Amino acid sequence: MTNIDPNNLPRHIAIIMDGNGRWAKQHAMGRIRGHKRGAQAVRTTVTACREIGIAYLTLFAFSSENWGRPGEEVNALMDLLADYLDKETPTLQKRGIRLAAIGDIDKLYLPVRKKLLEVMKLTERNDKMVLNLALSYGSRDEIVAAVRKMVADQRDGKLKIDDIDKETLARYLFTASMPDPDLLIRTSGEYRISNFLLWQLAYTELYFTDVLWPDFKKSDLLAAIAVYQQRERRFGLTSEQIQGK
Ligand code: FPP
Repeated sequence: MTNIDPNNLPRHIAIIMDGNGRWAKQHAMGRIRGHKRGAQAVRTTVTACREIGIAYLTLFAFSSENWGRPGEEVNALMDLLADYLDKETPTLQKRGIRLAAIGDIDKLYLPVRKKLLEVMKLTERNDKMVLNLALSYGSRDEIVAAVRKMVADQRDGKLKIDDIDKETLARYLFTASMPDPDLLIRTSGEYRISNFLLWQLAYTELYFTDVLWPDFKKSDLLAAIAVYQQRERRFGLTSEQIQGK
């Protein structure tokens, strides 16, 4: 197992879980079987993050563009999500994990939405880790919605144009209560951000791996964290400034 420094952990890890379909193809199975194995990798990863001591884990589980997939696949993904929430809630409770969600939640199928809101309420006092699911999520839509809300608040006298700064905009995003991700992992050898957390990833360290999501294990997570720990995060400053020379 890769050694990691417990004093330099990413506070927030975001993951683009990609490659379920290719995994299924490689194993001569249908795409839905790939998603099922992907849901298993979600369980493993949540457990591993909690064990390691990660405070926030954001998983890109369903994009706003994924609604365009074949109906059968969309239905299967909604079912998998409902099943995950049903089966994992006792574990979330036991391990002190709070469930959160970002995205156009109102678009989710009713049973999934109801279940999601129920589990979010049930786990709201848990304080060991936040599991944040991006569902029906698209970052450009999120930014457009934030701008609309700001304009409405300005019109209603709740916000002054001169007071708008980066922090203001961040407060209008779905992620208002969360720190920006420190580490973004994308699986399956694709090198794209795919409309995920565009604002929030400004200074995030990016890590790409060829591993397909259903094969992603604790050892892969540790390898990503180890690489993160070797990076020097400069936030636009010089190396000397960061090292306090
Ligand atoms: C990308 O693989 C994955 C998705 C679009 C869905 C992610 C869903 C899960 C991991 C399972 C359910 C989630 C939870 C939280 C229980 P792809 O289908 O685009 O793969 P491909 O690029 O190889 O076709």
